[in-house]
Amino acid sequence: MQYQFLESDELYTRVKTLTVVAKQTAASVQKQAKKTEKLIGEIEKPINVPPLPAGFKVDVPNFDVTNRLNKLPRSWDLPQELYKKHLPKYNVGTIYRIQELLNAGEGYIGQTVTVAGWARTVRDQKNLCFIELNDGTSFGGLQIVVEDKLTNFEQVAKTNTGFSLKVTGNIVKSPAKGQLIEMLVADPTKHEVVIVGQADPEEYPMAKGVQKPETLRQKAHLRPRGNFFSAVTRIRNNLAYATHVFFQNNGCLYIHTPIITGSDCEGAGEMFRISTIFDNDIKKIPQINGKVDTVQDFFKKEVNLTVSGQLQVENFCISMSNVYTFGPTFRAEKAHTHRHLAEFWMIEPEFAFADLFDNMEAAEGYVKFCINYILQNNMDDLQFLDKRVKPGLIDYLKDIVSKDFVRCSYTQGIDILLKAQKAGAKFENSDIKWGMDLNSEHERFIAEKVFQRPVFLYDYPKEIKAFYMKVTEDGKCVRAMDMLIPQVGELIGGSQREERYDVLAQRIKECGLKLEDYGPYMDLRRYGTVPHCGFGLGFERLVMMVTGVENIRDVIPFPRYHGSAEF
Ligand code: 4AD
Ligand code: MG
Repeated sequence: MQYQFLESDELYTRVKTLTVVAKQTAASVQKQAKKTEKLIGEIEKPINVPPLPAGFKVDVPNFDVTNRLNKLPRSWDLPQELYKKHLPKYNVGTIYRIQELLNAGEGYIGQTVTVAGWARTVRDQKNLCFIELNDGTSFGGLQIVVEDKLTNFEQVAKTNTGFSLKVTGNIVKSPAKGQLIEMLVADPTKHEVVIVGQADPEEYPMAKGVQKPETLRQKAHLRPRGNFFSAVTRIRNNLAYATHVFFQNNGCLYIHTPIITGSDCEGAGEMFRISTIFDNDIKKIPQINGKVDTVQDFFKKEVNLTVSGQLQVENFCISMSNVYTFGPTFRAEKAHTHRHLAEFWMIEPEFAFADLFDNMEAAEGYVKFCINYILQNNMDDLQFLDKRVKPGLIDYLKDIVSKDFVRCSYTQGIDILLKAQKAGAKFENSDIKWGMDLNSEHERFIAEKVFQRPVFLYDYPKEIKAFYMKVTEDGKCVRAMDMLIPQVGELIGGSQREERYDVLAQRIKECGLKLEDYGPYMDLRRYGTVPHCGFGLGFERLVMMVTGVENIRDVIPFPRYHGSAEF
């Protein structure tokens, strides 16, 4: 090392400069940190599920599902040849979708076809240009080999990631490893590459290699161009399809329940108000006795966005037997968690002449059907997610479908938690007692650590559940059920409904609600009441489970949550 002796003035200047540089660096680091914090969106820290205390073991309650199943012919499982394959195909326009070509194996070899999509990579090698084209229909793209005989070869070779291209060429067997076919663009009289749209590689945000989901969230309009979000989107689509196939195949009618409602189904009061009388100028809002005069509003009363389609779908259940609704749901919860959105999608079936255990059976059949459907139809996407997002995802899903879900009462659940705590399990909320509303750490401990499979927790204390649930014989509980999934938590909430007029009227009063607000609901109990049940599955939570994605904001195209409604 070389030492330098500096004049004191010079030394002073140097130290001063260094201090300024250090301050600037600190400021820029701070700014960057703030930016990152904003990007991540103040999400709560991940849920800490304590490990199972050594030697702690609980037997899986022995629930005889088969006995019940034998009584009725049911078809929760669809035949292996899925409907899709037997439907006629309609192509939009003259473009072939890449999925169609790849799925056909060698079927298209020798044919000249046109494909269109976005270049993922472009490699220019002297007299050949290799383009990997992806149109979003499948995980894998189509390799396109362009020869320099093409008149616009030079322009094609200069294209880049993100360019949109329409290409006509010949499908040939690929000499390359890992792909069966590719497209050869070699005959200038029949083949062509049309540059449809350009994307400056310096500026195109998706050209910057692998990016974190939270960074991609800031580009929600472009994120389906990447592997991660397009895989999630294809799985989401197929889960929606599988949902309809499952319920339609099991005799349920799809009911479109309203989005604008005057009732609060869950009684939680966290609703978005709809109004046409609100104005930036407060003076213009019609008022009466210091309050907003709702009679002058569009619907002449206070209305909100729906928090659940259940109450309305029940109307149809008690006329048409088995029904379901699948629509957007809104909750004004200011929860900054990995599992909550302000706008999400919910599937709510309702079954007539059925009890809580029939409800569990249907819920288990539905969830397993959805997972099986994705295992059969989205393997490429799952393999990518298994590698990049959640190692072991495919085994995790196969494990879920291979086991019977556990039925465990709330009371048994509390017992298990207390015993585990005694044996040394440390919960953040350690005040475990009968009557408490369980936290995620407790729910996940039961499913993930104790039973290591999905669990139905049922018969909850009535004080912590909604007014419409059927009261048990001892009057302490209601016939509610939550489906708890390892590593996910609550996926489904459901119940058998109170069908007895008097008991329901009493519950409505107990819950501080007004009987007159529930006229039609009470009528269903007055005229031809029947035992019935149903559940609600949060669609994004299902997508999270199947894709292994940890944050709910990364499984919906345009997430809406407290403080954010972008794009
Ligand atoms: O448990 P919940 O509140 O039940 C109901 O709404 C009943 N009316 C359902 C019924 O019986 N028909 O909600 C059902 C499910 C939850 O288990 C959860 O998966 C999901 O909806 N969910 C949410 N998903 C995302 N963001 C939120 N803020 C959610 N709130 C509930
Ligand atoms: Mg719930």
